[in-house]
Amino acid sequence: MSGDCLDLLVNGRLTVLGRIASASNLTVACEVTDGERTEQCVYKPIRGEEPLWDFPDGTLAGREVASYLVSEELGWGLIPETGLRATGPDDIDLGPGMVQRWIHQREDGRSDREDQELDPVDVVPEGAVPAGYRGVLHAYDPRGDAVVLVHADTDRLRRLAVLDVVLNNADRKGGHILVDTDGRLFGIDHGICLHADDKLRTILWGWAGGEVPAAEAADLARLVTVLDDENAALRVRLSSLITTSEIDALRRRAARLADDGGMPLPPEARAIPWPPF
Ligand SMILES: Nc1ncnc2c1ncn2[C@@H]1O[C@H](COP(=O)(O)OP(=O)(O)O)[C@@H](O)[C@H]1O
Ligand SMILES: [Mg+2]
Repeated sequence: MSGDCLDLLVNGRLTVLGRIASASNLTVACEVTDGERTEQCVYKPIRGEEPLWDFPDGTLAGREVASYLVSEELGWGLIPETGLRATGPDDIDLGPGMVQRWIHQREDGRSDREDQELDPVDVVPEGAVPAGYRGVLHAYDPRGDAVVLVHADTDRLRRLAVLDVVLNNADRKGGHILVDTDGRLFGIDHGICLHADDKLRTILWGWAGGEVPAAEAADLARLVTVLDDENAALRVRLSSLITTSEIDALRRRAARLADDGGMPLPPEARAIPWPPF
């Protein structure tokens, strides 16, 4: 249950498993336990955040937690449990930071893979976009062969694309979409979301200009009602994580999508994060 898991993440004892070298900020893989239950998680200390000129307010950790709260309010469960902790692991306590449940992925990258199943975001040769996929970008690989960046055409990934528009996600790369061992898809790394200005940068453009599905539109309409209530728990929590103008912008984006403003079209510049994975 997500409430129990959050409590464990925020109040349990953390121990370091290792630093994630590929991360752009300080990201530490940890184990968290209360003596009875144990989970793996990431810990991103606020102290390890590189300052970003275009995100001067608040913290990246706060934006990750705010994004999780929005996903939960919508009932979409697309972001693993994410909370703020006052302290880090005993051995390298770097102070307050965000913690997020670790998504255990399928054994991928095996050389003996028989299924040859594509990832939710992948690259295929030009002209070979398989059924169930949408092509989003034509390019040349390092050998000069024509390729297409594709993503899966599933309801859950489409819902993540809608969430990214609501969150104004400035960095939805392929590597930030994980599939757990049960085949459930999640989005991670929401440190540069929720800015008041339009900053959507994503590889999930396969539904651009299309309709927002009715179920998602109804959930978004509910979110708007909640955000209109000054005393709603979500609004109160968001106020401690992002600015008032960012909350107002979140409400505007949700309302536009709920009233079927449709899925946005890619902007002329900087539509795709680079590298895309
Ligand atoms: N909740 C998670 N579950 C599984 N792996 C994760 C999770 N969060 C991060 N990772 C792994 O750590 C890497 C770096 O994390 P990320 O959130 O992208 O950090 P940064 O903010 O520094 O870019 C990810 O690419 C992914 O491989
Ligand atoms: Mg990242």
